[in-house]
Amino acid sequence: MSTEDLVSRSVELRRRLAATLAATGDVRTQPWRRAVEAVPREAFLAAFFRPIEGSVETLWEPVTADLVDGSERLELIYRDETWVTQLDRTVTPEQSPPAVAGVPTSSSTMPGLVVRMLEELRVEDGSNVLEIGTGTGYSTALLSERLGGGLVTSVEYDPDVAARAAAALRAGGYAPTLVVGDGLGGYPTGAPYDRVIATCSVHHLPAAWIEQVRPGGTILTTLTGWLDASAGLVRVEATGAGRAIGRFLGTTDSFMPARPHDRPPLPDDVFDWISESPVDERPTAIGPEVLDQTVDWTAAYVAQLAIPDAQPIGISEGDGPMISYLIDVRGRAFAALIPQADLSWRVRTAGSFDLWARVETALANWRAAGEPSVESFELRITPDAQKVCFPGSEQLLLPGPEAVDRGGPDREGRGGCR
Ligand SMILES: C[S@@+](CC[C@H](N)C(=O)[O-])C[C@H]1O[C@@H](n2cnc3c(N)ncnc32)[C@H](O)[C@@H]1O
Repeated sequence: MSTEDLVSRSVELRRRLAATLAATGDVRTQPWRRAVEAVPREAFLAAFFRPIEGSVETLWEPVTADLVDGSERLELIYRDETWVTQLDRTVTPEQSPPAVAGVPTSSSTMPGLVVRMLEELRVEDGSNVLEIGTGTGYSTALLSERLGGGLVTSVEYDPDVAARAAAALRAGGYAPTLVVGDGLGGYPTGAPYDRVIATCSVHHLPAAWIEQVRPGGTILTTLTGWLDASAGLVRVEATGAGRAIGRFLGTTDSFMPARPHDRPPLPDDVFDWISESPVDERPTAIGPEVLDQTVDWTAAYVAQLAIPDAQPIGISEGDGPMISYLIDVRGRAFAALIPQADLSWRVRTAGSFDLWARVETALANWRAAGEPSVESFELRITPDAQKVCFPGSEQLLLPGPEAVDRGGPDREGRGGCR
C-alpha cells in the first residue's frame, strides 16, 4: 500500500473504531468520538509486541516496520486491544529477538478502556487535567484533542518511554505539558487540577493527588494490591483539606502497577525468617482459593483489602506440595495455608499479628453484610487514613494512605466507617 493509501485507510479505521466504541458504550459523547476519529493511533505505536498464541508462559513477538507490512500493522493497531510496547522495563520491540518472555511495563491501553475512562472523567471545556502514565502518548493526544494541550499535563516515570511519547506528540502538533518523573507526587507546578486520571494502578491514593486537585475536582484510577486483585475503576471527589470520598464504578479493569507502588522485593533472609519463626497452627475454613478473583471477584478484593501489604509466594517443603504463603514484609508477619488430606485447610501464622485472621474477619463481615458488590463500596480518604466501607459494616478494610508508609494508626484496622 502506498503512503497515501495508508493515510486514507487510517481515516477509515479511526471512523470504524469510533463507531465500534460508540456501539459498545465506551464512547458516549460527541467530543470524545471526534477525538478518537482525529488521533492517529499508529503515530504512537511505531512498534509493539503481540502475544504469541498458544505460548504457555506468554511469549511476545515484535511487530515493527521491518517485520510486518504497513497495512497489516495498521489493521492490528485499530483493533480495540492493548499493545505492549516495553517488557521488563528495558526491552523494546526494536531490540527484541523474534520471541521473548517478559512482564509488560509499558503499553498503549486498549482504546475502549482509554475512552471509557475519559468519559468517566467527566471533563468540561476548560478542565485542567493531570494524567499519570503517559505511556505511548495516545491517551495524552486524545486529551489534548478534546481540551487543548495547554490544559493537559502528563507524567511518565520511564525516561525512554517519555521521550518517544514526546516526539510522537510533538510530531502530531500536540503541546501538552510533559513531565518525566514519579507521577505519584503529581506535578505541583500545574496545580490545582480539575481532574486527575491514572493509567497505572496504585496501592492507595497518593496524598499529592488529593492535595493537587481543587475541592470538587475528581480523581479516576484503579486500586490494585500485591495479591493482584483489582476492583476496577474508582472515582473520588476531593472535598478539601486532604480529604476525598468516592465510589468504585463496578468495572473489572486493571492496569500495570505504578512503579513505586509495586510489591517490594522480598528480603534476602526471608526463607531463614520463615523457617526460624515460631508459628501458631490452627484449622481454617478458608483456603487460598479465596484470593483468586476468577473464583469470586469481590471476595478476593475484600481479602486483599484486609492484608494490603501482603504478597503471595509458593514454597514447597521437601517433597511436599506447594504451600501458599502470604508475607507482609513491612509488618513482619506471614501465614501459610496447608492443604489437608480431607481437603480442609490449616493455617500457620507467625509474626507481629495474625495475618490470616484479618482475612477471615473481613470476609465474615462482608458475608454477614450480604456480600455487597463492589459498586456499593465507598472509598473514604482523610490525611490519616483510607477506608473502604461497604453498607451495613463498620469494618475498616484499607490501612491509611501514607499511614501505610508511616506505619500509622490504621495499620491496626481500628476505627469504623460511620
Ligand atoms: C498502561 S501504560 C499507559 C498507557 C497510556 N496512557 C497510553 O495511552 O498509551 C502505563 C504507564 O505508566 C507508567 N508509569 C508507571 N508508574 C508510573 C509513575 N509512578 N508515574 C508516572 N508514570 C508511571 C509506565 O511506565 C507506563 O508507561
